[in-house]
Amino acid sequence: MDQIIVTGSKNPLQGKVAIEGAKNAVLPLLAATILASEGTSTLTNVPILSDVFTMNNVVRGLDIDVTFDEEEKQVIIDASGQIGSQAPYKYVNQMRASIVVLGPILARNGYAKVSMPGGCTIGSRPIDLHLQGLEAMGARITQRSGYIEAHAEKLKGAHIFMDFPSVGATQNLMMAACLAEGKTVIENAAREPEIVDLAIFLNKMGAKVRGAGTETITIQGVEHLKGAVHQVVQDRIEAGTFMVAAAMTGGDVLIQDAIWEHNRPLLSKLQEMGVEVLEEDEGIRIRSTVTDLKPVSVTTLPHPGFPTDMQAQFTALMSVVKGQSTMVETVFENRFQHLEEMRRMNVHSEILRDTAIIHGGQALEGAQVMSTDLRASAALILAGLVAEGQTIVGKLSHLDRGYYKFHEKLAQLGARIERIKGEDSDV
Ligand code: UD1
Repeated sequence: MDQIIVTGSKNPLQGKVAIEGAKNAVLPLLAATILASEGTSTLTNVPILSDVFTMNNVVRGLDIDVTFDEEEKQVIIDASGQIGSQAPYKYVNQMRASIVVLGPILARNGYAKVSMPGGCTIGSRPIDLHLQGLEAMGARITQRSGYIEAHAEKLKGAHIFMDFPSVGATQNLMMAACLAEGKTVIENAAREPEIVDLAIFLNKMGAKVRGAGTETITIQGVEHLKGAVHQVVQDRIEAGTFMVAAAMTGGDVLIQDAIWEHNRPLLSKLQEMGVEVLEEDEGIRIRSTVTDLKPVSVTTLPHPGFPTDMQAQFTALMSVVKGQSTMVETVFENRFQHLEEMRRMNVHSEILRDTAIIHGGQALEGAQVMSTDLRASAALILAGLVAEGQTIVGKLSHLDRGYYKFHEKLAQLGARIERIKGEDSDV
């Protein structure tokens, strides 16, 4: 596995950066294409990421034709023939998000067998809400030998209240409900922009989904769905990562096509810190002078709260702001491992259960560090941008799951960064 070497510099990042389609949108969109028993689906603005390759394989494993034209960033899916019902361990274990195929396979075939997704370093991540919702729609579910099996000749519309607005469960249930008999109401649904993007695509396919983006989503079941064409929404987390990079280097960066509403909680915290945030025709511009920034308190929450997927990167920013900042992580129970790694870079923090206190303003020092999860990998690289000397970041398989050409985009903005071939064990 490769390594990224960042040489810290006092140079602020400057220029424009282009953002890809959202990983967290395209994965459920690919799962939704399973529902189309007629025609082909075309997804455009598809990011070239390892998670996308994995999801393509999950879908191909169902005897569905999937063609990824990387140059055009376009995936064409033909699920019009007879499709399989099994998503085996070898694909599902590579990516937890593949559990979102459960609802569509069940709705389409009346039976689904999907490997249980494994644990994950950021928390235990159960799937009880996915299963309870499908059961409420009449599915009979059994779990054995590491597989979930679900049967329902025809799902029935139901009134579902989710204890927690789980993103994946909302997507799974929305998709299953599209082919159910009658009306399904999902209350306390997740409201993330990626949920809205999925609803737009499902409606293009002929579904009747209303209320996506609010707490209550209503789905009127239809007999069948057909393929559709859809452009994947921009990646708010990639955009947010570059916003933080600009802020912590005292930079001036235009994040092209970034969507203000999708990044509102992050933008408001950046403004509270003293970062200048400008809405321009081409996107969002971030300007900052690090020395004037103030410490802040942040709590991660489901959308429209501060996104947990920006937590690690934001703690890197907190570490360069003089004074005591606080980060409370309420979505995942074990998502501060990057702070342990950043200690090696002289980041001072204390972690007590779900709260991290960051004593910012110490001079960061370059070190050899290891990515512990996807967003942690980006956070370590951001810290390396402002550390004295060289930072070597290993285990880039995490980074490649969610960032396309991250080092090249940073280099274009003036960072001293390169990616070299190497073994993980060297780090
Ligand atoms: C999605 C995102 C991930 C993001 C997360 C929260 C994708 C592919 N991934 O993950 O990047 O960090 O939303 O914004 O879109 N939970 C349960 N029972 C369930 C389901 C979830 O207890 O049945 C818990 C989880 O353990 C976790 C919390 O709910 O603590 C949030 O999970 P969820 O919203 O489902 O996240 P994902 O869909 O897995």
